Amino acid sequence: MKIKKNIPLIDQHDKNGFWGEKFGGNFIPETLKKPVEDLTKLFEKLRKDKKFIKERDYYFKNWVGAPTPFIKLEKLTSHLGGAQIWTKVVSEANGGAHKIYNATVHCLIAKRAGKKYIVGDTGAGYAGKMLSMAAKKFGLKCKIFMGAKDIKRQKPNCDAMKKNGAEVVPVYTGSQTLVDAVSECMRYWVSNCDTTHMAVGSTVGPNIFVKICGWSTSQISRELLIQIKNAFGTVPKKIKLLNCVGGGSSSFGFWNEFMNYNKKQIEFVGIEAGGPKKSKKHAAPLTYGSKIGILHGAAQYVNQNSEGQIDETESISAGLDYPGVSPLHCFLKDAKRARYTAASDEEALNAYQIVTKYENLNPSLEPSHAFAEAIKIAPKLNKETIIIVNSCGDAHKDKDILKQRLGI
Ligand SMILES: Cc1ncc(COP(=O)(O)O)c(C=O)c1O
Repeated sequence: MKIKKNIPLIDQHDKNGFWGEKFGGNFIPETLKKPVEDLTKLFEKLRKDKKFIKERDYYFKNWVGAPTPFIKLEKLTSHLGGAQIWTKVVSEANGGAHKIYNATVHCLIAKRAGKKYIVGDTGAGYAGKMLSMAAKKFGLKCKIFMGAKDIKRQKPNCDAMKKNGAEVVPVYTGSQTLVDAVSECMRYWVSNCDTTHMAVGSTVGPNIFVKICGWSTSQISRELLIQIKNAFGTVPKKIKLLNCVGGGSSSFGFWNEFMNYNKKQIEFVGIEAGGPKKSKKHAAPLTYGSKIGILHGAAQYVNQNSEGQIDETESISAGLDYPGVSPLHCFLKDAKRARYTAASDEEALNAYQIVTKYENLNPSLEPSHAFAEAIKIAPKLNKETIIIVNSCGDAHKDKDILKQRLGI
């Protein structure tokens, strides 16, 4: 499996929508064929439309607040010894996480499609919060599906959605987490696609949703490449880009602009949720060798039992608590362009404590998984190696869990 140079990765699928012949596709009911085709035509037209790009860039700059800061974590670096640790503080974007990019683009597309309603899924609540913010900004009526377990553990984001005027629909099926929220959202869209636009909250789902989301979050690495050149005067010889991976939207967006660099110069490291140390359950299909299966309209590596039923996951982080992963990441794994590993709940909590002890940064439990890997590898590396962690979410939403687990 090979990645082609100079073609955006989101476009390296075949005519049936598969990356590397195996991942992605469109496993959708007959009723969705036409809406998915229409959305595909519209998106492909809009991404070539200079006026649309200008509009996107205007809102990214003047509403999202791009570019987000790129800073060196000097105290953490000297505490750990070894590699330099830097971070891109994507949590400084409007609303507190990277999900704002995808939400903004989906609302702009919905407006062009003449839709008045928008519907989305959420786990950690950031995808839902951002969609509710963007819907309010662009005058759309918004409905968010969220697992009942996540509503309880991510209350601040749930409250924000309601404050922004969105209807939050609790999902009581299955594990009552993100996987069930996405299923319910898609089910709702099947019956309402004439009037309603659907925004899938990560680089998952049928082919076009993977593409729209990846195209939107790539703003992060476009900014980062410029910031690296400004900070170092060049692109240093050894960079490691560390990012947590749930569905895979922040990590894909963090890496995309660097796709053509040699992996010895720029290594991509994806950190999945390993779950509690004592539990067999996890949300790390790429790390622990899950088989290919179909989830939410796409083929991907997904946690499943011997009959192909989707396994329940477990993670302290609602945003990473998902049994599958983007087809783009499956492709990157098989092409050996990215390395994937996992951090446990305990390692993420420990990383949160270390980062907040040394730095004025408040990474949510999702990026705390990536910081756990930075803490593990930095002492073994020299100071010419630059580790950059995507601090893609703010921990305000995790305050109840942090109080419970750490007494903070
Ligand atoms: C802050 C944060 N980081 C990471 C994730 C994981 O999603 P993705 O892998 O799509 O970036 C989420 C999902 O909700 C999130 O809220």
